[in-house]
Amino acid sequence: MQSITRELEQRLTVALRACFGDAAEGVDPMLRPTQDPSFGDYQANFAMALARTLKQKPRDVAEAVVERLDVADLCGPPQVAGPGFINLTLLPAAAGRRLQAIPPAARDGLDRVGIDPTPAPAVVAIDMSSPNLAKEMHVGHLRSTIIGDCIARMLEFEGHHVHRINHVGDWGTQFGMLIEHLRRTHPDVLNDPEHLRLGDLESFYVQAKQRFDADEEFATAARRAVVDLQSGDPATLAVWRAFCEESLRHCHEIYERLDIRVEDRGESFYNDLLPRIVDDLARVGLAVESDGAMCVFLDGFRNREGEPLPMIIRKSDGGYNYDTTDLAALRHRIEALGATRLLYVVGLPQKQHFDMLFAAARKAGWAGDKVELTHIGFGSMLAASGKMFKTREGGTVKLKHLLDEAVERARNVLEANEQDPEKKRGLAPEQMQVIAETVGVGAVKYFDLSHALGSDYKFEWDTMLSMDGNTAPYMLYAYARIRSIGREAGVDYAALPPDTPIVLEHESEIRLGKMLLRLPDVIEQAGREYRPNVITEYLFELSKAYNGFYDRKRGVRVKDATPESVRLSRLRLCDLTARTLKLGLHLLGIGTLEQM
Ligand code: ARG
Repeated sequence: MQSITRELEQRLTVALRACFGDAAEGVDPMLRPTQDPSFGDYQANFAMALARTLKQKPRDVAEAVVERLDVADLCGPPQVAGPGFINLTLLPAAAGRRLQAIPPAARDGLDRVGIDPTPAPAVVAIDMSSPNLAKEMHVGHLRSTIIGDCIARMLEFEGHHVHRINHVGDWGTQFGMLIEHLRRTHPDVLNDPEHLRLGDLESFYVQAKQRFDADEEFATAARRAVVDLQSGDPATLAVWRAFCEESLRHCHEIYERLDIRVEDRGESFYNDLLPRIVDDLARVGLAVESDGAMCVFLDGFRNREGEPLPMIIRKSDGGYNYDTTDLAALRHRIEALGATRLLYVVGLPQKQHFDMLFAAARKAGWAGDKVELTHIGFGSMLAASGKMFKTREGGTVKLKHLLDEAVERARNVLEANEQDPEKKRGLAPEQMQVIAETVGVGAVKYFDLSHALGSDYKFEWDTMLSMDGNTAPYMLYAYARIRSIGREAGVDYAALPPDTPIVLEHESEIRLGKMLLRLPDVIEQAGREYRPNVITEYLFELSKAYNGFYDRKRGVRVKDATPESVRLSRLRLCDLTARTLKLGLHLLGIGTLEQM
């Protein structure tokens, strides 16, 4: 299914050229879906800006273009409104034809709902999740993990080759303490690193830290371990590796539950590349010595006192920094992975770090004009009270516990429904567990992704688990219900003949049909602007349009509609709605249920 806006834009461009020749070269028709249906379905807003360049009246410009605009096969007569907007209304017959042309779902693999991949795939590196391995994953890692995965899914769907890079913190002084503690608590670690299991990394860290602070002999040994680690002592490296692997196993239990795959590439991976980073920058005069440290000064970055703020890439003790590693990682992604789009899904507090990183990479010539560097920053997840998200005791909430609670709460909702004769669905206990897992984890993801990335949001269990509103349970239920309508109507949606005409007549039918046709534009916009909530908003609008269509009073009969051609047309609309919901949820990282 080609996007309608793309097609209308092309037609507008042709008309613009016919009217204004070279003066229309490169003019963006500025076509947008309208919010208010009384202005039609799409509105082109180019006339105001173009009129200024042409020194003409905007309305005259708009009218001249309408005169030459050839859209009769798609739209009713274009209307010029207000100062010079062009309003376009899709013809129901044209909308029906386009829906009918959507090919059936592929037998296996993802159903693309007729949307073609890009002809120009790029290699994309998305830096996401990236917890520090010294500790357990906590709620602070949730957003980067699920937003990063959603953006990866959108870009993959567009046809790009995506690396989800887990830039875990696996290096630094705190590992000395952990290595030493591990040696003493698990003396067999070197003989049998594979079988190392630490039940709880968080308390392991706390114990190591306590010992470090209280026991001078231990602290000296821990510092010694840092030196040994840095100088590459094989036995120390082996203990360190065993710890990191065990910590990564904990992370991957979470990723598995979230249905997320990442490529683990920790900070240590870049260690050997760090000296060259400093040398190369020094050679071109970008890195200079200041108080024994090597620094990169970049235009426009100043500290609170207004003095130039350097990026320190080698400390005076010879050690390297977070910045140095990120420079090496950036270069590696471009040079070794061949990535031309580098995205970093990291909280907004690190904005300045990325601004400086990108400025340095540009200045050094490591990222040329054709390489995109984007920090996709996001706000914090707050407790429902609006305060920091903490356990009752004031500790950080482990991600594992948050997900367990989500599933448990979802299960409680389902069980309560089973007690209610009106809502009872007669689910078997095993079925209930599968549903609870999908609904619980889906609710957490959907709720997060439905918020604008840039702002903080409050984590509210009741809202996200509600069966009503812009939530995962509601969307999952909408999907399952449409699937069951097919069963009740005695049709296999997948077997409906693809040449069954789709006829849009009733107002609610037209509205649903046009909403379905927005899908390619929605995916395109969400992917271009890195905004998952463009998808959640669309799914919510779509499900409302579907409810209007299926409603006894406001809508049309479906299962028992007559004649048969109308019944089949409406069942195909049901199927397309379900397919669209499924694809939308898939892009958010949420699987669907056939029954719920
Ligand atoms: N490990 C870092 C943290 O927990 C996040 C890393 C983000 N990615 C990066 N390339 N700097 O704050």
